[in-house]
Amino acid sequence: MRHSAGMVALAPSLLSASFATLGETTAAFENAPASARPDLLHFDLMDGHFVPNLTFGTKLMQDLRELSTIPFDAHLMVEHPERYIEPCAAAKVERVTVHAEATRHLPRLLAQIRELKMLAGVALNPATSLETLLETLQWVKEDLQFLLVMGVNPGFSGQAFLPQTIEKVATARALLPDTCTIGVDGGVSVDNAVALKRAGATMLVAGSSLFDNGKPLEALETLRRVLEATEG
Ligand code: DX5
Ligand code: ZN
Repeated sequence: MRHSAGMVALAPSLLSASFATLGETTAAFENAPASARPDLLHFDLMDGHFVPNLTFGTKLMQDLRELSTIPFDAHLMVEHPERYIEPCAAAKVERVTVHAEATRHLPRLLAQIRELKMLAGVALNPATSLETLLETLQWVKEDLQFLLVMGVNPGFSGQAFLPQTIEKVATARALLPDTCTIGVDGGVSVDNAVALKRAGATMLVAGSSLFDNGKPLEALETLRRVLEATEG
């Protein structure tokens, strides 16, 4: 299915950047020319329980917030996500995305995020059913603001993109209203970005494909140029 939305928002995942220089990287994005400026900065919070990796907590976002006006996108890969919502608000996060698999009370959690004036998103692991999520939200008449379709099993940067993701995005686009942003996270690169855009993705997270060559601004500019050269 083709979707006609023009722009695709790009969000570098700082998990792939060197943690030794996150301040410099954030400042470089802040001061980048418009063509290389991210639409959001993506933060992967992992607790070593929901996923087999441990990254950082909300203090990192709080500290980096001082260096940039780019909206922050928090991706919570944690158990008990409800514990981290208020700290995200305190760190002036724009959008908080929680995993459907991490809570038994998804609508309550989404309401908690919105009450603190942040955008609320739901992430789905590759093996998690989109239809079940939509049925859950229909029961409580909940509109979804943001769906994050995982292109890999979460936990690490640099994993290979699962090609079935493209079909899942197309299905989501057909079922969700246009007001819902559909993002893809994991394994995104110039090799699959156009197909994801054509399937209906309106936001892409990219980690290793932007940072691995050590020139994330140039890589982001290239990715944006490739997407803008594509219709629909
Ligand atoms: C994976 C994370 C992603 C990851 C992206 O669990 O949620 O944000 O860091 O990195 P790449 O683009 O390298 O898969
Ligand atoms: Zn992520």
